[in-house]
Amino acid sequence: MTVSVITIDGPVSSGKGTVAREVAIKLGWHLLDSGALYRVLGYHATQIGVALDDEAKLVKLAKALPVSFVERDGDTLVMLDGVDVGNTIRAEEVGELASKVAIFQPVRDALLERQQSFAQTPGLVADGRDMGTVVFTAAPLKIFLTASAEERALRRYNQLKEKGFSATLAALVEDIRNRDERDMNRDVAPLRPADDALVVDSTTLSVIEVVDRILDEAQQRSLL
Ligand code: DC
Repeated sequence: MTVSVITIDGPVSSGKGTVAREVAIKLGWHLLDSGALYRVLGYHATQIGVALDDEAKLVKLAKALPVSFVERDGDTLVMLDGVDVGNTIRAEEVGELASKVAIFQPVRDALLERQQSFAQTPGLVADGRDMGTVVFTAAPLKIFLTASAEERALRRYNQLKEKGFSATLAALVEDIRNRDERDMNRDVAPLRPADDALVVDSTTLSVIEVVDRILDEAQQRSLL
């Protein structure tokens, strides 16, 4: 039996994470935060002294990555070797590490099956960069969520402040532009909408409006 999958791809701070979580909760479906896998990999590599350009060692690490996602009180704990690193991996610096390890095709291949194994009944909402283009190419609903760099920087700023991290808006706009550039222009699995993706610009939309739009679309495609 094929499991229904909704993919939500898009650039950094487009709201994918929040939207994907809400959609998954509303539908009672599983959630894959694929960015968390790349973040954990970058973080773990740095912690144990593996250089971020040592492709062979990164592949080995990715294959045996001791990570698990644990649902608790409506939140997902990201456990690395038994330690919850959910908050730690949200830091800007760890996003940078993730973006660096993500450029290697063999590293991406090493994480592919693990990601696909999240497709379990009753359904999966998968959030990332290449969910629709590589990991779940047969997904019946693919969303590409975007927003202006300024709006995304502002959202990121508010998010970081809330979590107690320090940040400046100008630096974040710069950082977001750099990250977009790297994610969109890398040779492997570059960030782009799948040919059959629905592109949603959330610059002027609230989270609820985006979620409703996705649920409407899922309904129209008889996924629910
Ligand atoms: O979604 P995020 O910000 O947590 O992702 C962190 C980095 O991981 C991002 O800069 C690119 C990389 N990534 C990726 O290459 N492919 C994915 N499916 C998810 C994330």
